[in-house]
Amino acid sequence: MSGCFVAMEGLDGSGGTTQVMRLCDALGAHATAEPSGGPVGQLIRAALKGEEPVGDGVLPLLFAADRTDHLEREILPRLAAGEIVVTDRYYASSLAYQSLVSPLAEVARLNASFRAPDITVFLDLSPEACMERIEKRGASRERFEKLEALKNIADAYEAALALLSNRGEHVVRVNAQDTPDAVHAQVLEAVRACL
Ligand code: TMP
Repeated sequence: MSGCFVAMEGLDGSGGTTQVMRLCDALGAHATAEPSGGPVGQLIRAALKGEEPVGDGVLPLLFAADRTDHLEREILPRLAAGEIVVTDRYYASSLAYQSLVSPLAEVARLNASFRAPDITVFLDLSPEACMERIEKRGASRERFEKLEALKNIADAYEAALALLSNRGEHVVRVNAQDTPDAVHAQVLEAVRACL
């Protein structure tokens, strides 16, 4: 028996973490996230906070190493046992975020051998709306810089999702502007259709 592997994607502030929890509650699925809770994932989280001196060129490799560990340790054994596994971010995040620094083709090559998700759900929300949500939860000060960064990431996601669709992966865009309940209903419908 083989389970179903779901990847949730979107800009920071698009509601991914909430939607992963809601989806897992609804389906009795296993929730996980990247960066993972493993050793490389912890190093990445420290690096993203500026606590570890990790250069931009090293990050794509670290994310790929964390993904290898995450798959071996957590995702693949659960899928083999027939579970539904939902991850808050997967390789589409690398294709989007790391392609801001390294060429997209190079990031894609680093991620080429990983198990593809059965469905990637992209929570579609404008950078402005994401920024508003981030500010509401009190996590941002440098508004302009962060808005500019979100716009660049949004463009990079478009290229990343096009690459995945073009190679036949199942990518579904969900309008994330609605209430969490309404977004959840759309996500659930999309994922149920592929179970
Ligand atoms: P999050 O826990 O808020 O999702 O933060 C994780 C951050 O890491 C987020 O800004 C996106 C970034 N990220 C990458 O740059 N590449 C990746 O491959 C993944 C999984 C996350």
